Amino acid sequence: MPLTPFSINVPRALTWDASSRTLCILDQRRLPGEVVQVELRTLDAVDDAIRSLAVRGAPAIGVAAALGLVAAFSHGEIPSRDALLAGIDRLSASRPTAVNLPWAMARLRRVVDAGDIGGAERLDALAAEAERILAEDEAMCFAIGQHGAALIPDGARVLTHCNAGALATAGIGTALAPVYTAVAAGRRVSVIADETRPLLQGSRITAWELTQTGVPVTVCTDGMAASLMREGAVDLVIVGADRIAANGDVANKIGTYSLAVAARHHGLPFYVAAPTSTIDAATPDGAAIPIEQRDADEVRRFGTRQLVPTLALVYNPAFDVTPSALVTAIVTNAGIWRPPYRFSP
Ligand code: MRU
Repeated sequence: MPLTPFSINVPRALTWDASSRTLCILDQRRLPGEVVQVELRTLDAVDDAIRSLAVRGAPAIGVAAALGLVAAFSHGEIPSRDALLAGIDRLSASRPTAVNLPWAMARLRRVVDAGDIGGAERLDALAAEAERILAEDEAMCFAIGQHGAALIPDGARVLTHCNAGALATAGIGTALAPVYTAVAAGRRVSVIADETRPLLQGSRITAWELTQTGVPVTVCTDGMAASLMREGAVDLVIVGADRIAANGDVANKIGTYSLAVAARHHGLPFYVAAPTSTIDAATPDGAAIPIEQRDADEVRRFGTRQLVPTLALVYNPAFDVTPSALVTAIVTNAGIWRPPYRFSP
C-alpha cells in the first residue's frame, strides 16, 4: 500500500483556506513551549514572519510568501499590477539564501507579467499559481520520502541538523521525509537532533516535531556530534538544503559543513534531501551562493540574558556551504543523485 503523505500525523507549518484566502502559520519562534497559530493578513506581517523565522525552512518560506502575497491582496481593493510587482519584489528579498523564495516569487511574477488579464481575474490566477506551489511542495516532500526511505535501514540511528522536517515545508519535510516513510513501512528508526546554535531549530523544532509523530529523538549539542560518530552511535547523516548549486555544493544551516567533514572522517554517509525547487542550476558553485548574515544579538543574547561580553565581536552567518565532494548522495523528488553532480537548468 503506498503511504499517503499524511498517514503519519505530522504537524503543519502552514494552513491555507482557499475559500477565504486565509493563511495561518505555526509561529515557530515560540516552540516548543507554546503552540500558536498566527494569521498573516498583510505584506508587513508576511515579510516579518519570514525575516523573524516565525515561518522558516527553504520550501516553507517559498510557499508562505506565495500564499501570503495572495492573502495580503485579497481583503481590500483589487491591487494594481505595480502594487503586486512591488509586493513580489519585497517578499523575494525577505531572506537571501534559500532559492525556493525567489523561485516561488518568479512564478507569481510571470502570472502578473502575462498582461492579458487584470483586476480580480489576475488575483484569481495568482491564487491558483500559489495553490499549485503549495500542492507541488507537498507532493515533492512525499516523493523525497519514497526515494529516500531506501537509504534508511531498519534500526538506523539518523543524525540531522536544524529542522528539515514537516515544519520546514508544506508537506512531510525533506530530510525527515525518508525517516517518516521508513517508519511508516515498519522500520525502527531513531533520530539524533543537533541542537543547532544559535536559534536552536534542532532542539526546539525538530525534537518537538518528532515527539509529535512518535519517532524517538535524542537532542545533542552541536559540539557532541563528531564524538557520537566516533562512539559508533550514528549510522548516517541526513540534512536539508537552502540552495544546491549546479556542481552539487550545498548551502544549509550553519554547522552542516562541520557535520559533513566529521561524517567523512568517520566513514559515514552524508545525505542531503531537497526538492528540485532548491536546485539552482544558474549558480555554478557554492562560492556564488549568497549567505545570509543575521543580527549579532542572536548569538550575544538568549532572551534577556547576555551570553557574550559587550566588547567581543561575533560572527552570525545563518548558513554554510558543504562542498559536493563531501555529499554521498542528494535525494530529490526526482530520485537519488550521486557524484559527480551536474544540474542543468
Ligand atoms: O534559518 P532556517 O531555520 O530557515 O534554516 C533552515 C535550514 O537550514 C533547513 O535545513 C533548510 O531550509 C532545509 S528545510 C527543508
